[in-house]
Amino acid sequence: MLFKNLFASAALLLSSSELALASLGSRFHTDKSTVPKLRNAKRTYFPKPATNLNEFTTPTGVKIRYKKPGDEGVCETTDGVDSYSGYIDLAPNVHVFFWFFESRSNPAEDPMTLWLNGGPGSDSLIGLFQELGPCRINEDLSSVLNPYSWNNVSNMLFLSQPVGVGFSYQEIANGSFGAYTGTFLNSSQAKPTGTYPILDPVNLGEVDTTDLAAMAAWHILQGFFSGLKSLDAEVSSVRDFNLWTESYGGHYGPAFFNYFQEQNAKIGTNETKGVKLNFATLGIGNGIIDEAIQAEYYPEFAVNNTYGIKAYNDTVYNYARFANFMPNGCLDQIEACKQAAASPKGGYVKEAHGHQITYEASSNPSIATACSEAADMCRDNVESPYYYFSGRGVYDIRHPYNDPTPPTYFTDYLNLPEVQNAIGVSVNYTDANNDVYWYFQSTGDFIYPNFLADLENILASGVRVSLFYGDADYICNWFGGEAISLALKYPNSKEFAAAGYAPLTYGGVEYGEVREYGNFSFTRIYEAGHEVPYYQPQAALALFNRTINFFNIADGSEKITPTLGTNGSASATHTATAEPLPASSGSAYNVWSKSLVSSYSVLDNQPPASATPTRYGNRA
Ligand SMILES: *[C@@H]1O[C@H](CO)[C@@H](O)[C@H](O)[C@H]1NC(C)=O
Ligand SMILES: *[C@@H]1O[C@H](CO)[C@@H](O)[C@H](O)[C@H]1NC(C)=O
Ligand SMILES: *[C@@H]1O[C@H](CO)[C@@H](O)[C@H](O)[C@H]1NC(C)=O
Ligand SMILES: *[C@@H]1O[C@H](CO)[C@@H](O)[C@H](O)[C@H]1NC(C)=O
Ligand SMILES: *[C@@H]1O[C@H](CO)[C@@H](O)[C@H](O)[C@H]1NC(C)=O
Ligand SMILES: *[C@@H]1O[C@H](CO)[C@@H](O)[C@H](O)[C@H]1NC(C)=O
Ligand SMILES: *[C@@H]1O[C@H](CO)[C@@H](O)[C@H](O)[C@H]1NC(C)=O
Ligand SMILES: *[C@@H]1O[C@H](CO)[C@@H](O)[C@H](O)[C@H]1NC(C)=O
Ligand SMILES: *[C@@H]1O[C@H](CO)[C@@H](O)[C@H](O)[C@H]1NC(C)=O
Ligand SMILES: *[C@@H]1O[C@H](CO)[C@@H](O)[C@H](O)[C@H]1NC(C)=O
Repeated sequence: MLFKNLFASAALLLSSSELALASLGSRFHTDKSTVPKLRNAKRTYFPKPATNLNEFTTPTGVKIRYKKPGDEGVCETTDGVDSYSGYIDLAPNVHVFFWFFESRSNPAEDPMTLWLNGGPGSDSLIGLFQELGPCRINEDLSSVLNPYSWNNVSNMLFLSQPVGVGFSYQEIANGSFGAYTGTFLNSSQAKPTGTYPILDPVNLGEVDTTDLAAMAAWHILQGFFSGLKSLDAEVSSVRDFNLWTESYGGHYGPAFFNYFQEQNAKIGTNETKGVKLNFATLGIGNGIIDEAIQAEYYPEFAVNNTYGIKAYNDTVYNYARFANFMPNGCLDQIEACKQAAASPKGGYVKEAHGHQITYEASSNPSIATACSEAADMCRDNVESPYYYFSGRGVYDIRHPYNDPTPPTYFTDYLNLPEVQNAIGVSVNYTDANNDVYWYFQSTGDFIYPNFLADLENILASGVRVSLFYGDADYICNWFGGEAISLALKYPNSKEFAAAGYAPLTYGGVEYGEVREYGNFSFTRIYEAGHEVPYYQPQAALALFNRTINFFNIADGSEKITPTLGTNGSASATHTATAEPLPASSGSAYNVWSKSLVSSYSVLDNQPPASATPTRYGNRA
C-alpha cells in the first residue's frame, strides 16, 4: 500500500513549548490578524453533510465526489464556463479536495494548469480567491468575477495538498483551531467551533518532505485525470500540462515536475501504469528554491531594496549577515546537513545536475534533526530579525507588519453553510495547517539542495520555465530569486546570464523587467508583494498567458525560439518610493487599511488593456 508507506514516514513532533517559541512571522502563508475573523463565532453550527453530491468511480478505481458550484452561483458564474469541486478519494484515509475550472476561452483546446500554493501547509484556495482564480470575495462576503483570472486562457485545477490542508482530510472531527498555534484542538482541549480535517490518528506519520508530497500529488493527479472524461467530457486529458506555484512552491514546483517526468519515463517503458503528463511550462512566483543561495539576500533586501527603505539598522544588518556566513552559521549548518545525509547509503545522491537528499536520509531521525537545526538557525538568525525589528510586512516591505493586504474575506466565505454545500464539503475551512508545516520543518526540507538540482534537470530537459518575483516581498525576495536564476547550471546558462533586462509591458504600461533566453526567464514585477497576481493582476495574467502560449515575456509580440533573448542592462535598476508607514494600530491605521485594500480592489474593475499585438494567431 503506497499510502501506508507514505504516511508511515517518521514525523518528529515538536513539543508544545517549541511550538510556542516559533516565530509567527516566518511563515509562508498569509495569516492576517487585522481582518475581523470568526464572524460566526457566537453561534456554533457544525457543517451538515453536503447534499446532492454526484459520484463515480474512475477506470483505475478512484472515487470522485463532486458538485458544480457555478450552478449554485458560487465563484465562476461566467455563462457557459463550467466548474467542478469536491473530493478525489484516493484511499480510505486520503480524501483530497479539488476545484476545477474550465477555460473561459476554449476548454477543449486550451492547456491544463495546476496551481499550488506553498506553506508547506498553505491551501491553494488562497491562490484561487486572493490571486488568480475566477472570483474575489468582498468584505460583505459577496463574490465578484475577476477579469484577470488565469482561466481566461487555461483550464485551471486547484488542489488542497498535502492531505490535511484546506478541505483535504484523512479523518474529520469536531473541535476548534487554535488562534495562536494554527493547529487543531479537540473537544477536550477547547470548545468545539466546527468540524475540521484531522490527520489520521493511527498512522501518526505524515507527508513531511517535498519529495513525498510529489509522490502523493502524482497519485492525486492520476486519480483526477483517470476521471476527467467522466467529469467533464469537453476537456480531454491529453493536452499540455502546466504547473504554476508560489512561495514554498519553489520547492514543490521543481520536485513535483521532476518526479512527474520520471513517472512519464516509467510509463513509457511499462514500469508504471498511468497517464503521461504532457509537460509544457513551469511557473514559480516568489519562490524559495534554495536557501543556501537565497539566505544572504534577507539582510541585503532589508537594507538595500529599490524602495529606499532601510528596514533595520546596521547593528541588526551585521548580525543577520554574520549569522549567515560565520563558522557554524546558516551556510555551514546547511553543509553539515548534507554531510549527515551523505552517511547512510543512498542518503545523498548525485542527480544529473546537483545533489539530492533522499528518503533514506530524511526519514532518519538524527539526520532530520541535523537538517531541521540548520533550517532553524537560518530562519531564526538570518531571516527573522526583520520580523522583530523592522515593524514591516513579511510579504510586502512597503506595508506594516499587520498588513491588510491581501484581505482574507474568502476564509469566512468558505465557512458559510450554503457555500460549503455548493462546493461539496462538510468540514470547516482553514487556509493553513500548521501541523503540516511543522512536519516539514522537522525534516529540514526547507534547506535541502534538491530543488535547485530538480530545476536544473527540468531546464536541461526542454521545458519552459518562468520565475517571477514581486519586488516588494521580503520573505522570498527578488534579490534571492535573481541570484537563483543566475546560479542555475543548464546548457544555456551562459547565454541566459548574458541576456540583459528588457521592460515587461502590457497595454502600453511597464510592469516589470525580464531577462529571457530561449525557454527560461526571470521577471521582476514592480510594486507587488508576495502574491503577485493580487497586486498586479494584469501583469500576472500577461506573464502567464505569454509563457503558456510560448510568446516572449517582455511584450508578447513574438513566438519564442531556442535563441530568442532579451537585450538591455545587466541589472534591474528601476526604483520607486514608499509612503511612510502609519502606526500599525488605532483608527488612522484602520482608515488607511481600508483605503489600501480598496485601491487594490479597483484594479479588478479596470477594463483589460486593449493594445493587442498583431502577430498573435493561434487563438480565436
Ligand atoms: C463552520 O461551518 C459552519 C457552516 O457549516 C459555520 O456555521 C460555522 O460558523 C463554521 N465555524 C467556524 C469556526 O468558522
Ligand atoms: C476574461 O474573460 C472575461 C469573460 O469572458 C472577459 O470579460 C474579460 O475581459 C477577459 N479578460 C481579459 C484580460 O481579456
Ligand atoms: C459534530 O457534532 C455534531 C453535533 O453534535 C454532530 O451532529 C456531528 O456528527 C459531529 N461530527 C463529528 C465528525 O463528530
Ligand atoms: C484530545 O487530545 C489530547 C492530546 O492529543 C488527547 O490526549 C485526548 O485523548 C484527546 N481527546 C479526545 C476526546 O480525543
Ligand atoms: C508496453 O506495453 C504495451 C502494451 O502491452 C506494448 O504494446 C509496448 O510495446 C510496451 N512497451 C515497452 C517499451 O515495453
Ligand atoms: C546596495 O546594492 C547596490 C547594487 O547591488 C550595491 O552596489 C551597493 O553596494 C549596495 N549597498 C550596500 C550598502 O550594501
Ligand atoms: C539597532 O536596532 C536595535 C533593534 O531595534 C537596537 O537594539 C539597537 O540599539 C540599534 N543600534 C543602534 C546603533 O542604533
Ligand atoms: C522549450 O520548451 C518546449 C515545451 O516545453 C519544448 O518543446 C522545446 O523543445 C524547448 N526548447 C528548448 C530549446 O529546449
Ligand atoms: C495572450 O497573449 C497573446 C500574445 O501576446 C495576445 O494576443 C492575447 O490577447 C493574450 N490574451 C489575453 C487574455 O491577454
Ligand atoms: C540583441 O542584441 C544582439 C546583438 O546586438 C542582436 O543581434 C539581437 O538581435 C538583439 N535582440 C533583440 C531582441 O533586440
